[in-house]
Amino acid sequence: MKTEIAFQRCVAPACAATFDVGEILNACPKCGALLDVDYDWDRAGLPSSLKEFEKKWATRRNPLHFSGVWRFKELLNYAPDETVLTIGEGQTLLRAEPVVANYVAGGQIYLQYEGLNPSGSFKDNGMTAGYTHARMVGASKMACASTGNTSSSLAAYANAATDGTKRCEAVVFVGSGRIAMGKLAQGLDFGAKTIQIQGSFDDAMRRVKEISKALGIYLLNSVNPFRLEGQKTIMLRILEGLSWEVPDWIVCPGGNLGNSSAFGKIFHELKKTGLIQRLPRLAVVNAAGANTLHRLYNEQGLRWNGGAYDQKKITDFYTQMDAEKREAHTIASAIEINRPVNLVKSLRALEWLNGVVCDVTDQEIVDAKAIVGRTGIGCEPASAASVAGLKKLIANGTIGKSERVACVITGHQLKGSETAVTYHSKSGAELGEAFKDYGIRSNVYANQPIQVANDLEEIVKALK
Ligand code: F0G
Repeated sequence: MKTEIAFQRCVAPACAATFDVGEILNACPKCGALLDVDYDWDRAGLPSSLKEFEKKWATRRNPLHFSGVWRFKELLNYAPDETVLTIGEGQTLLRAEPVVANYVAGGQIYLQYEGLNPSGSFKDNGMTAGYTHARMVGASKMACASTGNTSSSLAAYANAATDGTKRCEAVVFVGSGRIAMGKLAQGLDFGAKTIQIQGSFDDAMRRVKEISKALGIYLLNSVNPFRLEGQKTIMLRILEGLSWEVPDWIVCPGGNLGNSSAFGKIFHELKKTGLIQRLPRLAVVNAAGANTLHRLYNEQGLRWNGGAYDQKKITDFYTQMDAEKREAHTIASAIEINRPVNLVKSLRALEWLNGVVCDVTDQEIVDAKAIVGRTGIGCEPASAASVAGLKKLIANGTIGKSERVACVITGHQLKGSETAVTYHSKSGAELGEAFKDYGIRSNVYANQPIQVANDLEEIVKALK
């Protein structure tokens, strides 16, 4: 009989080996597949209805109840309370957005603003969960590869965990030149050892796996199953924002595919435990310049298929990618990824949630980003992929015009302000030149700054 509520389990149904939560694993030691954190739900202390979670609002001086992740602890019940490291993540907002609804020609469109997290992206939901596990197992040195947000988040948590007696060291690996300035600045300010390797995110990812194994450093990328437990709570907050009603669709950008995997898992768990009665559908949106999932799912027909997915299709795809020297390239640098590490888990989520995948051009991304900006919160380019994808999926009839859609806005606008300034301030040939690597030629939603002499009359004239 198991004594723990939580355990780790291999996602491959043919293997399904289980391991203690105290083990540090990034893949199944028996078959190499990804791992889940799973629970003995009868002993997890679940409430009788999701609404019960609202009771914790009254005791929010308890940091675990203040956290938008840990106030749902019964749904990620693997850590003793005293090991939890929270920096107040998950105070995020679900807002109905008529301006966006108008843009995508949809009826009931909500944005879930994860840019409001302490380090400015949804990653904090996962980092509090992964970092907590790292502390549980006594790690003091943590690493990740990143396109910029995971590294900012890891650096923030490592800084918060470091006190006079105990130094926690964060080592972050980023590809050279492909990281937004705001993100690089965060990692440096927060004191992370920052390794800029000559190569892409995928190169950094491969290296950090090798390094963490060789040097015994705890890995905090989303291959870490505990990270994804935290990211599940984004969906709980969406449900909360809708008074616990399940929306028709969840739309999110797809990069390393951790989010989509986590979203599928939580809805599957909520249905299994009777906490919801129906499932939403899931739409994952790739950038056209980084569209491994789109191509495998829509062009090659790759499916989870109850766990019997066609590995050869994936291997052949990557072999051809390497032979053609195809490298991901998109203005949405956060999702500029060739080999998404959670591909297989994401396929499972798509099966559970009857999902769809699409891709969007960089032009569609920057236009959608300008529209999200008009809501007064804004987002970074990768986040706008979800809105661009939603527009496309409504236009082609996949998502019905009156359906209720929650679109995840993954990162803060100021993470990558370079793109916004160029989009709004340049025009014509100058715009084309500035964005020539991305095929962006127009900026119909631009809000051009007005150049004016330091002269009262001229200023008055400009304001008319
Ligand atoms: N949006 C933003 C702002 C991101 O930073 C990322 C991933 C994604 C979307 C994609 O999410 O990987 O769960 O599919 N950023 C990672 C990083 C890769 O290193 O910060 P995903």
